Amino acid sequence: MSNSVIGRVVRRAESIITSARLSSLTREVVKEKLTYLTAQKLARLESSASAVVEKKIPGDILEFGVALGGSAILLADFAKKGGRHFHGFDVFGMIPPPTSDKDESDAKSRYETIVSGKSVGIDGDDYYGYRKDLFGDVCKAMAAHGLPVDGKTVTLHQGLFEDTLPHAQIQRVALAHVDCDWYDPVKLCLDYLGARLSPGGMVIIDDYHDYAGCRTATDEFLRSRPDFVLEDGRNAILRRRA
Ligand SMILES: C[S@@+](CC[C@H](N)C(=O)[O-])C[C@H]1O[C@@H](n2cnc3c(N)ncnc32)[C@H](O)[C@@H]1O
Repeated sequence: MSNSVIGRVVRRAESIITSARLSSLTREVVKEKLTYLTAQKLARLESSASAVVEKKIPGDILEFGVALGGSAILLADFAKKGGRHFHGFDVFGMIPPPTSDKDESDAKSRYETIVSGKSVGIDGDDYYGYRKDLFGDVCKAMAAHGLPVDGKTVTLHQGLFEDTLPHAQIQRVALAHVDCDWYDPVKLCLDYLGARLSPGGMVIIDDYHDYAGCRTATDEFLRSRPDFVLEDGRNAILRRRA
């Protein structure tokens, strides 16, 4: 058996073992094809959310990049159990283009595939960015899991982050999931979170190992903020020192 085949078998086995350890809610959203995150990334998201709730780190739980709502459902459930507010931010439509010269060909070619209409969704589904009413679909999915978008426990902010964030009125953040691919939105989110994350709070960067622009924005942030430490893994975790 070749090394690449062995590698694939090992990764598949790892993924099956990790999936079995996920909460039943997370396994449901995976089965319903509501998230692009791998089992390993979902496991790190779950354990980070669980830790901030258990340690009573003050603040809300945020997500930048909701798409179909899978990781938002997982996070909103922790927010509800922990007596906090969940805020999800997205255009709920076609992803905005990469706009920085710090984005590289990986981001540009992915964006070109999306705008050309050739992107395919999870397991051959239609790509979510081409849906007529993605916002309505996400609201229905959240309500179906006992998390209605009520503006009290769960709020979805539709629009570009730069337009919705100034009106969001969020004072403190315990945990944030930054899953928005390109340099400019990741930098914008990190600057916003840097001013609001509680000591001991965490920011999970989904695309640190997937898109060069995201990694550059994160590394620049870390260099400017010695009060944050990187815990690397499938997705990167930035923890603010307590
Ligand atoms: C990879 S998807 C999120 C995946 C999702 N968290 C999951 O569980 O599968 C990235 C999302 O970020 C959103 N996004 C990227 N840049 C944005 C911006 N500047 N303003 C608002 N939404 C943005 C896109 O519309 C897209 O839905």
